[in-house]
Amino acid sequence: MKIPKAWQLGVGDLPIMLAPPRHRTASRRPVGIIILVSLVCISLIGAYVYPPGHYSACYFFASSGCSDFKDWLPAIATRMLTDDELASKAVIGDILAMPYVPSKNPKIAFMFLTPGSLPFEKLWEKFFLGHEGRYSIYVHASREKPVHTSSLFIGRDVRSEKVVWGKISMVDAEKRLLANALQDPDNQHFVLLSDSCVPLHHFDYVFNYLMETNVSFIDCFEDPGPHGTGRYSKHMLPEVAKEKFRKGSQWFSIKRQHALLILADGLYYTKFKLYCRPGMEGHVNCYADEHYLPTLFYMVNPSGIANWSVTHVDWSEGKWHPKSYRAKDVTRELLKNITSIEASIHVTSDEKFDLGGPNGLTDKRKETSGYKGSNYEGGRVISYIRRSFLHRYSLVSMINP
Ligand SMILES: *[C@@H]1O[C@H](CO)[C@@H](O)[C@H](O)[C@H]1NC(C)=O
Ligand SMILES: *[C@@H]1O[C@H](CO)[C@@H](O)[C@H](O)[C@H]1NC(C)=O
Ligand SMILES: *[C@@H]1O[C@H](CO)[C@@H](O)[C@H](O)[C@H]1NC(C)=O
Repeated sequence: MKIPKAWQLGVGDLPIMLAPPRHRTASRRPVGIIILVSLVCISLIGAYVYPPGHYSACYFFASSGCSDFKDWLPAIATRMLTDDELASKAVIGDILAMPYVPSKNPKIAFMFLTPGSLPFEKLWEKFFLGHEGRYSIYVHASREKPVHTSSLFIGRDVRSEKVVWGKISMVDAEKRLLANALQDPDNQHFVLLSDSCVPLHHFDYVFNYLMETNVSFIDCFEDPGPHGTGRYSKHMLPEVAKEKFRKGSQWFSIKRQHALLILADGLYYTKFKLYCRPGMEGHVNCYADEHYLPTLFYMVNPSGIANWSVTHVDWSEGKWHPKSYRAKDVTRELLKNITSIEASIHVTSDEKFDLGGPNGLTDKRKETSGYKGSNYEGGRVISYIRRSFLHRYSLVSMINP
């Protein structure tokens, strides 16, 4: 019996079968073709079951390009990229390779994402005064037209749309602010702020710190618990693999190159728009504003981000909302405490989370942050940072404008 025999042949026999003996008659050719097709199928199945992952994933590439290439590929290294992925790889690759062109008059874009009027406008005015030409202001008011109390904010409203908390409209508003701010070629750094943010340092300090740092401050960490990877949907495959899924606070501060990258990305944005939303598959609440940018940058440019945000939020109370500061809480001592914070604490939703070192939980010093290292303690990943600048108030009552 010809076919069962063919099934016993190994892949190594294939080249012999490709050159069938000449004396075969035409009538036997279909059987030969069937055997050949079967062999090709077997070798394809073999390649699928035993992918050449035993070799380095970068087998065919120059060693210098290896890590970048591996970072890029979300799933099995042997997977063929789709048209959209190839296009995205070309565009994002070029944006990341762009040489830095310094502007003669560099500015920082301060982008306010707010439902309406800004309660701390007078405070921000004090922060900006005397620094004309080094900043620009953009206000996206999603619910009602803001009443401005500072002349610096007048005429700075961008066309806005409704924003629903936790939905993709939040990311859309961020992109709208970026698109507006990118129109000014002098804007080199883009800071996203809420209506409850106040500055913690004076203008020069913030300006110099952001301009001198080459990274974008995008919060990014792995939370293997229900409020992290638990929100991942398999529908994001093949472009976004589960192990690439990341989480982080939405309050970013990014360089121009990364602002362009965000606007250029349609592929990953669409994945998050469709499959990371409240009530996904009935019961999973995924919030695109907490996952899209951390995951995107973890995939395409992990070394380009700091993994922490320059806005300070206190989640230490372990509640659904961060600690709220009321007028009486805001003392000189509190501000001093916050500005001297040197660690960015990532609270995960999995208490047993182990960063994966050889000693598991007992190993308390693991290098996961580029700064000084990280600690793991009962569901919290602590990375040491230099300092945070802006503080996010979750309740607004500090000053009456
Ligand atoms: C920032 O990047 C530029 C160009 O890549 C480089 O010349 C410069 O040294 C970098 N600065 C810092 C602080 O890393
Ligand atoms: C500031 O930090 C010190 C030392 O950690 C602490 O004892 C104090 O209560 C803090 N004050 C405020 C207002 O947070
Ligand atoms: C941020 O984390 C990524 C890995 O997720 C790492 O490659 C990168 O160096 C980190 N960034 C800094 C500034 O440490």
